[in-house]
Amino acid sequence: SIDQKVDSLLSIMTLQEKIGQMNQYNGFWNVTGPSPKDGDAANKYEHLKTGLVGSMLNVTGVEEVRKVQKIAVEETRLGIPLIIGFDVIHGYKTISPIPLAEAASWDLKAIKKSSEVAAAEAAASGINWTFAPMIDISRDARWGRVMEGAGEDPYLGSKIAYARVKGFQGDNLASPFTIAATAKHFAGYGFSESGRDYNTVDVGTSTLYNIIFPPFQAAIKADVKTFMNSFNELNGIPATGNAFLQREVLKKEWNYKGFMVSDWGSINEMVAHGYAKDGKQAANLALNAGSDMDMESYVYVKYLEELVAEGKVDVAKIDDAVKRILRVKFELGLFDDPYLYCNTAREKEVIGSKENTAAVLDIAKKSIVLLKNEGQLLPLKKKGLNIALIGPLAADKNSPLGSWRIAGDDNTAVSVLEGLKKYTKNTLEHHKGVNLTTGENKFILETKINTTDRTGIKEAVAAAKNKDVVIMVLGEYGFQTGEARSRTSLDLPGLQEELLKEVYAVNKNIVLVLMNGRPLTINWAQEHIPTIVEAWHLGSQSGNAIAEVLYGAYNPSGKLPMTFPKNVGQIPMYYNYKNTGRPTSPGGDVVFWSHYSDVSNTPLYPFGHGLSYTTFEYSSLTLSAPTMKEEESITVSFTLKNTGKYEGKEVVQLYIRDLFASVTRPVKELKDFKMITLKPGESKTISFDLTKEKLQFYTANNKWEVEPGAFKVFIGGSSITTLETDFSVVE
Ligand code: IFM
Repeated sequence: SIDQKVDSLLSIMTLQEKIGQMNQYNGFWNVTGPSPKDGDAANKYEHLKTGLVGSMLNVTGVEEVRKVQKIAVEETRLGIPLIIGFDVIHGYKTISPIPLAEAASWDLKAIKKSSEVAAAEAAASGINWTFAPMIDISRDARWGRVMEGAGEDPYLGSKIAYARVKGFQGDNLASPFTIAATAKHFAGYGFSESGRDYNTVDVGTSTLYNIIFPPFQAAIKADVKTFMNSFNELNGIPATGNAFLQREVLKKEWNYKGFMVSDWGSINEMVAHGYAKDGKQAANLALNAGSDMDMESYVYVKYLEELVAEGKVDVAKIDDAVKRILRVKFELGLFDDPYLYCNTAREKEVIGSKENTAAVLDIAKKSIVLLKNEGQLLPLKKKGLNIALIGPLAADKNSPLGSWRIAGDDNTAVSVLEGLKKYTKNTLEHHKGVNLTTGENKFILETKINTTDRTGIKEAVAAAKNKDVVIMVLGEYGFQTGEARSRTSLDLPGLQEELLKEVYAVNKNIVLVLMNGRPLTINWAQEHIPTIVEAWHLGSQSGNAIAEVLYGAYNPSGKLPMTFPKNVGQIPMYYNYKNTGRPTSPGGDVVFWSHYSDVSNTPLYPFGHGLSYTTFEYSSLTLSAPTMKEEESITVSFTLKNTGKYEGKEVVQLYIRDLFASVTRPVKELKDFKMITLKPGESKTISFDLTKEKLQFYTANNKWEVEPGAFKVFIGGSSITTLETDFSVVE
């Protein structure tokens, strides 16, 4: 068995060789963290040759990977192959939508497929380990890394975590088309204070267990091979040196068998945190707390031997870490063939294949959310429309690739302009009069969005006059979101709102296409612009996906995975909030209830919101029984009818509320969802089962339990649900 092989290899390893396995170096060029100090970096090749490196990150391409692997295999005493890590976050070369966008599809099959494509391309390029999925729940859109996660909800987040791990790892990790995944960042990173990246995190037990942990547990269920800890401190102790998180919860309570890699330099950063006095103590604390591999801190390789000699680190803990790392290497098939992932023919064949392109186009369409469609400007008519296309992102081929797509080549996305041109040309007979194809009435205004430069606004206004429809593509550049790109304003950056207002003054028929990596506070647009399409950063096939949706070839079906607040002052804003003791106005002039005096408690767009070109009606909610015992279940049924003109797909959502409990429960909690496709006029009875798994929570007993009592169940097409009824759990 693999365990026997691991044990027998371990038995012949020197302490130095063991420590080497726990050391990970960045490749020699591409940094995804602060650049290393020369002194430390200088030893990298030497260390590689002497077996002091167990893994490298940011070495890509068969040729380069083969070079470093060859050193490990041929020049070191034991020839233990390297595990090669890389941030394959949303695609490798063929770029998928950013993960937040993919989450908006709620389509677990398509999400899994997108991870499969990413894995296959990365694996073809020599990589066998991705630092994904990022499964940090977050309620703060100021934090740039919300683009990398699945949003604010632990239930949806868990389903997606599971799907993405399965997609990356497949059923056979030793296949040259799959790679090991990483559940990151453990834990609490999404709760960085004030949304400022790397900032302090302070959360209580209930939030930790009920909100932050579930996606990590789902990843373990999917057999995720590795975890990454986190830059943040959690309740006063940096995650990297946090024994409660890594040893008690992960390795003991959850019995996790994979290994924990630190984040970039996060072991040494414990000195800056004020938790370790120097690098040596940081190594001691991290190792004892359960961090198995040191990414770019250089402190394990420098100090662990000394720490063992001084009796501060027990060799048993080193053995445990090394076993975990070796096990994954065996599972990846690296001991059978260290060059399994280094096949030039496969590299050429797999990367950018037609199948991969089709898969990312599919998920891109499914990720688009129709936020508003009053006056039915969309879908665009196929004949006789005179259209102006305006906005700084309209012809942008880079921004749609989004943040964290390090292997993706710059300027390779299909822009909206290109997508619309291609779409209308493909169906030219049906599109006579759509002047985009001739270029005659095509207006791309490169209005700058980060400056006070008003260039182009006048021309945009002139271009918009007398058009049937104006498509405006506004939002954030690809790198205005992501790691270390936190913002204190969630408005459209720069002069974009001014541009929008000026165009609106001459033509109200605007279709606003948003490209962004996080919720934006577009209140003015919501109030005035008839049609708003949330198109995120959709990856390589962005423009094609947008064209298909605008012309109705694909009827939008996405739903927001994160609440859009009205303003930054409302943050953190999320649908599963607590009721408080004063949830509503007592009436009259009484001011003493939980609210702001300048803005309502409601969001701009709620979690789960998303329209279709058709309409759906929810009715006839029934329960199979009004009560249940813990081990029983209740079937919830209702009717969904397509009451509009188009075939459409609806994500029907089930929420519950536990009315009183040993720890207060949210006013609503998503507990199930299904995607239902209906033809115009068609209706279907839909059922969900309410089971123990859906009703339990982490109680005051520090256990997952169902507490008997009164519950509510809600059904609808967003977290602002339409149907509700009561039931109870009895002893
Ligand atoms: O995987 C990332 C992590 O999410 C942030 N710091 C750098 C790591 C490796 O690139």
